[in-house]
Amino acid sequence: MSEHVFGGEWTREKLERVSKYLQAYTTIFHANERARYFTTYFVDAFAGTGDRMDSNIPELTSTPLLDVESDPEFIELQKGSSKIALEVEPGFDRYLFIEHSKKRVAELEKLKALYPGRATSVLIKHGDANTVLTNWCVQTNWQRHRAVVFLDPYGMQVNWSTIEAIAATKAIDLWMLFPIGQAVNRLLINRKLPPEGWANALTRTFGEDTWRQRFYKKSVQQSLFGEEEHETKVADFADIQAYFLERLGSVFESVAKNPLLLCNSRGTPIYLLCFAAGNEKGAPTAVRMAQDILRP
Ligand SMILES: C[S@@+](CC[C@H](N)C(=O)[O-])C[C@H]1O[C@@H](n2cnc3c(N)ncnc32)[C@H](O)[C@@H]1O
Repeated sequence: MSEHVFGGEWTREKLERVSKYLQAYTTIFHANERARYFTTYFVDAFAGTGDRMDSNIPELTSTPLLDVESDPEFIELQKGSSKIALEVEPGFDRYLFIEHSKKRVAELEKLKALYPGRATSVLIKHGDANTVLTNWCVQTNWQRHRAVVFLDPYGMQVNWSTIEAIAATKAIDLWMLFPIGQAVNRLLINRKLPPEGWANALTRTFGEDTWRQRFYKKSVQQSLFGEEEHETKVADFADIQAYFLERLGSVFESVAKNPLLLCNSRGTPIYLLCFAAGNEKGAPTAVRMAQDILRP
């Protein structure tokens, strides 16, 4: 089972790991002559606003000891993924920020204005991440491009077909926050299979319905009316993690074996930070780097 990161730390941990990878990625693509041939993209498909979007920082108001408006350490702590990506040096050649909320898109436009040196390379798309990403994967010439895609949803917004489209490019490194406890485990109820709507959501997330056999066991029980068949949940977090990594491995060239389990303040798993690499030549280095970064 992977390492745990508890409580208020998890958003910071998540962003720190992804940020380290972005830094290593652009450094390699600038230093290596063959890699320089490619135009690099960073895609933030659940981009938010540029500021961290979590409720994990206990005091958001200023105190006599901390002025949140101007304290550089606090501001550093508050950066969201799109801002972090824009500050990586050397930079990516292009940035694609996708966001569902109109209000947040407006914030992203303001963010873009704060980085005039990058402004012409930033594209902000208002829409559903699955649709925009899938179209972009199909329309981009992958002979000339390489990319890192970050999927940072709140819940089960990512369709398996989107992950397939990303993997099919054979040119993308994927960081994904998988909602293992935030959503998936909650839908896997204990004494029977989930109701149809939840089951469909699980199939949309895993891309197939073999989760039924993996997570549930049939048992026969005696009732007043004779023998009755029941489905009982047998999966724990480790089983869900193993299954999702297996699913990623079925479409990507290689997958980091040590995803980071992020837990809430009560120690309950909420997300799993996963990494997968799509390019045959680049995958061994990419996964080695990601595994190092994912280590506690
Ligand atoms: C967890 S937040 C992202 C945080 C951001 N990555 C950061 O580090 O600051 C998830 C974001 O995804 C957006 N969102 C939700 N569903 C979406 C969808 N289907 N397509 C695109 N964006 C979506 C939400 O509006 C929200 O801004």
